[in-house]
Amino acid sequence: MSVPNISTIGVFDSGMGGLTVLKSLRQYMPDVNLIYLGDTARLPYGTKSPTTVINYALQAVEILLEYKIDIIVVACNTASSVAINCLEQRCKNVSIFGVILPGAIEVVCNRWFIKPIGVLATEATVRQGAYADAIHTMEPSAKVVSAPAQLLVALAEEGWHDGEIVEKILSKYIDSLIYQDIETLVLGCTHFPVFTKTIRQLYPSLNIVNSADTTASRIANTYRGIGSGKTTFLVTDSLERFKRVGAYFWHNSMNDIKLVDL
Ligand code: DGL
Repeated sequence: MSVPNISTIGVFDSGMGGLTVLKSLRQYMPDVNLIYLGDTARLPYGTKSPTTVINYALQAVEILLEYKIDIIVVACNTASSVAINCLEQRCKNVSIFGVILPGAIEVVCNRWFIKPIGVLATEATVRQGAYADAIHTMEPSAKVVSAPAQLLVALAEEGWHDGEIVEKILSKYIDSLIYQDIETLVLGCTHFPVFTKTIRQLYPSLNIVNSADTTASRIANTYRGIGSGKTTFLVTDSLERFKRVGAYFWHNSMNDIKLVDL
């Protein structure tokens, strides 16, 4: 089967978390051009109402559409869980990819649904029940249990990804799922892959689903990237902070970075 060529992918998140998706996309697709929008002026999305997140996501997409992009990746679980339908209605000619479905597919394909599945996510993603809905369309018998873990977003951005305090906070959230007998943990927020190593040390037998990596791998299997491998960053506030904190997630240089107004 022939794979369509694309030259530019637009990616957005509330702030830095989507850089985990961007990093995986760059690893899978070295030639594609990537334009990343971090809505740093309005982070966090995870504590906001669905109406507000939908409005923010529509505005973010308007900015990306000013560039010549082929597809858009909503690199934010919160926006993916509430805004995907509205974004698809707005963007008839550009395909929209969220991060929820690839994670749900990973769980079901590995048959990790015999025991309850744990989802660690923002308040808004948990409230929306998006992972349970996506998993149930493929496997109605699966039991999905969730823990809202909004504090982890702030820790991730603080660069605190390991150490005693982080372990205590992670355990506080994850133990509530362990007590419900989970064997699989979905990192349902794009900020959370930075904790993977610490979570593995604390819970070596858990299966961990990284929604950033599953999304990037799905896109790399769907398209061939034929750009020049350029990465452009757009932020809605605090450019210098984005550069400094973004390094925890992107691990690469950020040369082409601009402030944009929403
Ligand atoms: N990175 C976003 C997500 O995946 C959440 C961070 C926020 O609360 O804005 O849900």
